Amino acid sequence: MSQPKKFVLLGATGSIGENTLRVLRKHPDKLKLIGISAKKQVNKLAEIAHEFSVPFVCLESPPSSEISFAKGTELLVGQEGIEALASLSEAEVVVVAVVGAAGLLPTLAAVKAGKKIVLANKEALVVGGELVTEAATRYGATIIPADSEHNAVFQCIQGQSGNSLDSIVLTASGGPFRDLPIEDFKKVTLEQALNHPNWSMGKKITIDSATMANKGLELIEARWLFDLPPEKLEVAIHPPSLVHAIVRFVDGCCLAQLSPPSMTFALQNALLYPQRAPGVEPSLDFSQPLDLSFSPPCYEKFPCLRFAKDALEQGGTAPLVFNAANEIAVEAFLRNRIGFLQISDIIGHSLNTSSNKPTGSIAELLDLDGQVRQLATSRIEQLA
Ligand SMILES: NC(=O)c1ccc[n+]([C@@H]2O[C@H](COP(=O)([O-])OP(=O)(O)OC[C@H]3O[C@@H](n4cnc5c(N)ncnc54)[C@H](OP(=O)(O)O)[C@@H]3O)[C@@H](O)[C@H]2O)c1
Repeated sequence: MSQPKKFVLLGATGSIGENTLRVLRKHPDKLKLIGISAKKQVNKLAEIAHEFSVPFVCLESPPSSEISFAKGTELLVGQEGIEALASLSEAEVVVVAVVGAAGLLPTLAAVKAGKKIVLANKEALVVGGELVTEAATRYGATIIPADSEHNAVFQCIQGQSGNSLDSIVLTASGGPFRDLPIEDFKKVTLEQALNHPNWSMGKKITIDSATMANKGLELIEARWLFDLPPEKLEVAIHPPSLVHAIVRFVDGCCLAQLSPPSMTFALQNALLYPQRAPGVEPSLDFSQPLDLSFSPPCYEKFPCLRFAKDALEQGGTAPLVFNAANEIAVEAFLRNRIGFLQISDIIGHSLNTSSNKPTGSIAELLDLDGQVRQLATSRIEQLA
């Protein structure tokens, strides 16, 4: 019998982290968790470390209270700590489930260590797609997408020759406001935006789904994962989230991947690839009627999706600007500092005010990211 794959889980205390642990509980003979990280949730991190006897843990800063990790557990801290964890020599696989552009440096560290990366974090590729994919080629790292749409594409293209792919359709549920009349968007509350009809996720991505910025981030992520130009990347609204993506081949045939709307399916596929094993949850039930309808998105109602598409078409640093402004705007919305419609205002303002440049070094990207965050913060102060 083969040895379990040793893996590190960055962002273990979040929604993707929890779903990854569900896969691990189902397959303890196939997977072994050897490193975990969180930003602030010390107690939850300690519980995970105890449950799975994890030897390496990492936090953003040293815990203020006395916290009991098991004897022999090594505590790493800060940016250096998370990058050390991402490149841990004992780990074969690194799951990146950190939220936001904070995922970029650990992803790059794992890439440079030649790891197999199970990538849930989408912002890393939006901000630094060119650098990350070039480095992956140079250092022999493999990126296996865990975002459900991209994992669906990944599954559909297995065994197909490289030049047979024509285009990709990413499906979107349309979020809680899919059918809301445009004139009612100004009345949207935080509570309504956090109430996603299909998926249970972290707060940031839940708001991104309500604005459809999430689908925009995914288009940009797909551009780097599958090396396709913007015009070959489409979005279709598919309310029940059963079909996660459709791949169109040059001969006109389309393949789709279907599974219930839970992240355990994509995460298990990415973690165990190329093996398949019984899933954590039941599959689809075709003895019941299933809705397999698709329709085009409404860009008028969801300007964030339009901004992301424009940024994708412009290339260069435009996707970084889109992402940084979105992160700041969503955080402000989550704190009740701005209204729902102001999220797109802040993104549009940041894109209009920043000149687009070719992507440079990692230091230049981080510097620009900081500048856009300041710009977006000033806009919030003007609006508040
Ligand atoms: N949730 C989903 O179903 C889903 C689906 C597809 C893709 N994704 C993508 O997966 C990523 C994670 O999403 P999520 O919903 O799991 O987020 P989440 O629930 O907010 O969890 C985020 C995790 O990252 C940690 N973290 C937050 N900020 C960090 C920072 N600056 N540095 C290091 N660690 C940090 C958090 O630690 P604390 O708990 O200590 O704050 C937590 O462990 C996102 O990029 C999202 O777009 C999520």
